[in-house]
Amino acid sequence: MKTKTILGSLAIGLMTTSFTALAEPPFGDEADVAFAKALWGTLQEHGLVGENRTMSAPYAGRHPHGAFLDTMDRQEFSVEDATGPVIVKRNYGGEDLSKEAVWNDPDQYLGAVTVMFKREGYDPDNHDWFWAKYLPDGSLDTNPEGRPLAGRVAKGMEQGCIACHATAPGDDMVFAHDRFQ
Ligand code: HEC
Repeated sequence: MKTKTILGSLAIGLMTTSFTALAEPPFGDEADVAFAKALWGTLQEHGLVGENRTMSAPYAGRHPHGAFLDTMDRQEFSVEDATGPVIVKRNYGGEDLSKEAVWNDPDQYLGAVTVMFKREGYDPDNHDWFWAKYLPDGSLDTNPEGRPLAGRVAKGMEQGCIACHATAPGDDMVFAHDRFQ
């Protein structure tokens, strides 16, 4: 009886530990949020996000990104102590959307800015991408639980940037190389 109780509480103890581990998502912690902030700031300095950004020709998008997209990349991009390629995608949505409407007034239709930045050694299982989803003002979008979408989103989970981008052709989790400018 006694042994059983001890084993029982051990099992509960172990379960609690693994639940705690699961409860902490692999993204959106303080360090991820700070890095996402630095990333946005640097993108802004390079005219890739924010008011004075340059834009490429919008094209019809694919789910779950916007109805129209415009995507730009830079091969050598430095944020804090990391240097690597960055891909910035602007996601447009709204009523009666057309390429011309987006081109003429991008701010009216911009719903989100999704970014992939390669940080060497950050997540070797997933080609070292740092993922972030920003709202047009540069604040981070969140998941339904309020967790900021920045970092390894959502490593080990069935849905999210990583799970979906893992299905991209090629071997770097990137879908549309041909679209970048
Ligand atoms: C259900 C699938 C799916 C999910 C989830 C998803 N994406 Fe994508 N993503 C795509 C597809 C498909 C494209 C290609 C769109 C196109 O250009 O036609 C794409 C394109 C991109 C691109 C341009 C580079 C490329 O792969 O072509 C970036 C950057 C990006 N996504 C970031 C993100 C981020 C950040 C998240 C999570 C917040 C995310 N994506 C979640 C499917 C997904």
